[in-house]
Amino acid sequence: MAARVTDAVKVYGRGDTTVRALDGVSVGFPAGRFTAIMGPSGSGKSTLMHCAAGLDTLTSGTARIGDTDLGDLDDRRLTLLRRDRVGFVFQAFNLVPTLTVAENITLPLDLAGRGGDPEWIDALVDVVGLRDRLRHRPAELSGGQQQRVAVARAFAGRPEVVFADEPTGNLDSRSGQEVLGLLGRAVRDMRRTVVMVTHDPVAAAHADEVVFLADGRLVDRMASPTADKVLDRLKAFEVRSP
Ligand SMILES: Nc1ncnc2c1ncn2[C@@H]1O[C@H](COP(=O)(O)OP(=O)(O)OP(=O)(O)O)[C@@H](O)[C@H]1O
Ligand SMILES: [Mg+2]
Repeated sequence: MAARVTDAVKVYGRGDTTVRALDGVSVGFPAGRFTAIMGPSGSGKSTLMHCAAGLDTLTSGTARIGDTDLGDLDDRRLTLLRRDRVGFVFQAFNLVPTLTVAENITLPLDLAGRGGDPEWIDALVDVVGLRDRLRHRPAELSGGQQQRVAVARAFAGRPEVVFADEPTGNLDSRSGQEVLGLLGRAVRDMRRTVVMVTHDPVAAAHADEVVFLADGRLVDRMASPTADKVLDRLKAFEVRSP
């Protein structure tokens, strides 16, 4: 497994206002696979992703990247793990406006003081189709192009797993399809591992497997998803919830 959580519980707040965002979730994200996380708003998808990725800590249970138990790491080592072993793509592209496309892509490597693998970066630039935009700044790009830069940046250091939280949430459907196609190719052609939170059944259909959360619990998994199958599954949630 590239990443996994076991008996994951996450409680926010204290006293009367506590929210049990994760209520005993155990799930693994296999290496070399594309996994989507779905579920209603507030079901704990982002919380699960953040805790699995070492962006947030669990109240109880364990989170692992590879064989590393994140609970064993102090803040400094957790920061290093996030920098060196994990990649992120967020709904807001989070590019640095003053840097060029090329500089944004290699930013994590530059911060880490490692040059990275020039051939890999070069191949990534072609995969994301940004060869002719490398010297532009983010403000000169469309939303879809900006998100493609963010995808290239996430994969630049060849992390063990890339986590994406609604990466197509701010994109029109065509740009969204491009970004999803990229994530799929990264997994299938470049043997990467992707975990993606999404609300969109069409997006989820790009994954190898979908895991469904409801009320902080893992309620279902679906292999070889299609948009129609995912939509039917989501409708079943709506019928049951008040
Ligand atoms: N920092 C926080 N403090 C308090 N409660 C929080 C915090 N973050 C999340 N929550 C609560 O935890 C629950 C799960 O939130 P989470 O963001 O994981 O949901 P989600 O499934 O990602 O929802 P969405 O689809 O709307 O993004 C929600 O009830 C939310 O209000
Ligand atoms: Mg969320």
